[in-house]
Amino acid sequence: MILDCDPGHDDALALLLALARPEVRLLAVTTVSGNAPLEQTTRNALRVLTLLGRTDVPVAAGADRPLDGVLRIAPEVHGASGLDGADLPEPAAEAVDASALELASAFLEAEDAVTIVATGPLTNVAGLLSARPDLLPRIEAIVLMGGAIGEGNWTASAEFNIWADPQAAAAVMTCGRPLAMMPLEVTHQARLSTADMAAMEALGNRTGLIFADLMRYFARVHAEWYGWDGPPIHDAVAVAHVLGGGLITTRRYPVSVEVEGRHTRGRTVVDTRPFSSAEATVDVGVSIDREAFVRMLLQAIAVFP
Ligand code: RIB
Ligand code: CA
Repeated sequence: MILDCDPGHDDALALLLALARPEVRLLAVTTVSGNAPLEQTTRNALRVLTLLGRTDVPVAAGADRPLDGVLRIAPEVHGASGLDGADLPEPAAEAVDASALELASAFLEAEDAVTIVATGPLTNVAGLLSARPDLLPRIEAIVLMGGAIGEGNWTASAEFNIWADPQAAAAVMTCGRPLAMMPLEVTHQARLSTADMAAMEALGNRTGLIFADLMRYFARVHAEWYGWDGPPIHDAVAVAHVLGGGLITTRRYPVSVEVEGRHTRGRTVVDTRPFSSAEATVDVGVSIDREAFVRMLLQAIAVFP
């Protein structure tokens, strides 16, 4: 697996889940601007790897802005650092002296079946597909968190990751490799409760304490916006989909991305009509066993000191 992310509170839990599971070999983490500018998302990835004792995993920084050159970030959700709310360690490692494109390409050249999990704007993934079409056959699947069948979160029409870089998302949706998309319809079901965050803290390890603080911070804006008592763990749903186990139900639909609409830019148009003649190419997450998902997250957190 290569995890392309913009940590980000839920990205951080997605990274922890990938590292906790023996069936996942996390080859690399690549970072992209999104929740915070690239410098912060890269630093945050390194801080989480330092906390988890996994600075052996290489981190490479990617795009510092979307394909259209306009930086779009979300400090109101994740704070100025992009990962506010807890006493995370300073990074004990640095990003490698290679770009995200170079690092991902090197692993794709060395491995013959790599799953790319993307939990931020898709700028890096689109850049890889465009720069190295020869490596496409080595991409086993692309599993992304993003999009919405109905209501967006960043606009009425669009979810943040797609809204931030719709051109990149459009390129990924038409790349021809096996695709799975975890939209808000499934990730909004994957919410923590206050009891779940208390259970995180009760694990008794430092990782549980830190992630309980991070999740409580991430919960604030969702309480204001939606009245929820806990945050949706959007990005870990993408990793949970790769792990399988029947937690997540998907349906295969045609998905296209609106890149120009004055009111709908960044919308994922998911064609759910049973009589649609369009080719259904994307496995779209539609439901999740929330309790099993939370158990999976707590078991993963318990793996670390
Ligand atoms: O809209 C939710 C997505 O945007 C998640 O990936 C979150 O981390 C933010 O990047
Ligand atoms: Ca993210």
